[in-house]
Amino acid sequence: MRITVLTGAGISAESGIRTFRASDGLWEEHRIEDVATPEGFHRDPALVHRFYNQRRADAARAQPNAAHRALARLARHHDLTLITQNVDDLHERGGSAEVIHMHGSLLGALCSGCGHRWPAALVMRPPDPCPACGQPLARPDIVWFGEIPYHMERIWQAVESAELFAAIGTSGQVYPAAGLAQHARRNGAETIELNLAASAAARDFSQHRIGPATQVVPQWVQGLCP
Ligand code: APR
Repeated sequence: MRITVLTGAGISAESGIRTFRASDGLWEEHRIEDVATPEGFHRDPALVHRFYNQRRADAARAQPNAAHRALARLARHHDLTLITQNVDDLHERGGSAEVIHMHGSLLGALCSGCGHRWPAALVMRPPDPCPACGQPLARPDIVWFGEIPYHMERIWQAVESAELFAAIGTSGQVYPAAGLAQHARRNGAETIELNLAASAAARDFSQHRIGPATQVVPQWVQGLCP
């Protein structure tokens, strides 16, 4: 079966990586406009690098959980397209070979001068020169607010061709990711939401599995695999 899965911060929550909009959300110490916009980076690149250095260190310390591993199992039995809004690498470390990072990745660095990409150092600093053009314009390869998410052509195709679309651990508040379920449904897919609580996009789903991802995702996958 052609299955398309979209994951959000909730799938990594039980690995110890904070979600964005929980009470202990990541943004509390920082305003979004200061650490997750091109303008914020231009204003204070050192602050933005410190913010992502901390996230990179948190992600390196975290371990994939049963939900990440269950999706790797799902890919062994179905034609799965895995799309994530997360910038950690827990899906890959949980066994998923192909992951579409629509908001970029903490493991990537990007030159805001020439567009060159390379593997990010664990700690990045403003004077870091781009390996290609040598300018000190290195930034995290993360899609910030106001920027266009990556791989959208491929994502729309995977959503339109899905027989089953699942959203796991996402609040359904940030577009275009929040609109994918409705698009899948319009193209004839069955839709299911797996979350700790009904999200803002709950009405776009015909099925719901409420509970922690490490419980509801393996149970859901078990029902789809021989
Ligand atoms: N199991 C399942 N779901 C969980 C768990 C858990 N243990 N813990 C939290 N959740 C759910 C919450 O109920 C919520 O719906 O995960 C979701 C987290 O929502 P957000 O913090 O908004 O994260 P996300 O939806 O991924 O945010 C989307 O917004 O800030 C931007 O670019 C950033 O990619 C991010 C995007």
